Amino acid sequence: MASARRLRLVVLASGRGSNLAALMSATRSGRLHAELLAVFSDRANAGALEIAAAAAVAGRWINPKAFDSRLAFDHALFAEIDALTPDLIICAGFMRILSAEVVAAQSQRMINIHPSLLPKYPGLHTHQRALDAGDSEHGASVHFVIPALDAGPVIAQTRIPIHHGDDAATLATRLLPAEHELLVRCVGKFNQHRIGHGHGQLLVDGQARPAWQYR
Ligand code: GAR
Repeated sequence: MASARRLRLVVLASGRGSNLAALMSATRSGRLHAELLAVFSDRANAGALEIAAAAAVAGRWINPKAFDSRLAFDHALFAEIDALTPDLIICAGFMRILSAEVVAAQSQRMINIHPSLLPKYPGLHTHQRALDAGDSEHGASVHFVIPALDAGPVIAQTRIPIHHGDDAATLATRLLPAEHELLVRCVGKFNQHRIGHGHGQLLVDGQARPAWQYR
């Protein structure tokens, strides 16, 4: 049963912010029983910060150059995040690698959207890599964040066909709306179930289960 309490969300984003916008729209419409506490970015000019500002959501740029080390940046970032007591931290186009120490402490409540059918193509240039491999389908995954890059247990995936004549740009454009839907559905699951991970597996209400698959 859905809880009466709204899920407290924090979003980390480095770029355009279309996934953030999708979350905000689902929150506004009531589709997601959630409240967005703040958006954090490592880039001053991130579109995501503009989207937050336009909706009067707290937006915060933390400048990586102001810190001596990756760990110092991560500690500063997560000190601010922890102070907000979020239920769920969502990396939505956050392009900075977080240190293992910080990730390990947050791993049960931090998720990432990645534009590939993990475990295929962790890292960058996922659309081109799917094309280069001759794949017939492509997609996106939402997974728990663990210290290893893009390697945490997958919660759900969405798939799209690769068409003859697709290039990385057409593929990315066609995948994006599916990403938005995937991310909203995944966040919704945190209200409907007790979602976590253990021994490298997705746990839903304490039971291991395969990732949800959407088309
Ligand atoms: C999205 O396609 C997301 O899957 C990808 O960045 C884009 C952000 O778009 N994330 C990664 O590549 C993470 N490794 P947005 O800023 O419009 O939401």
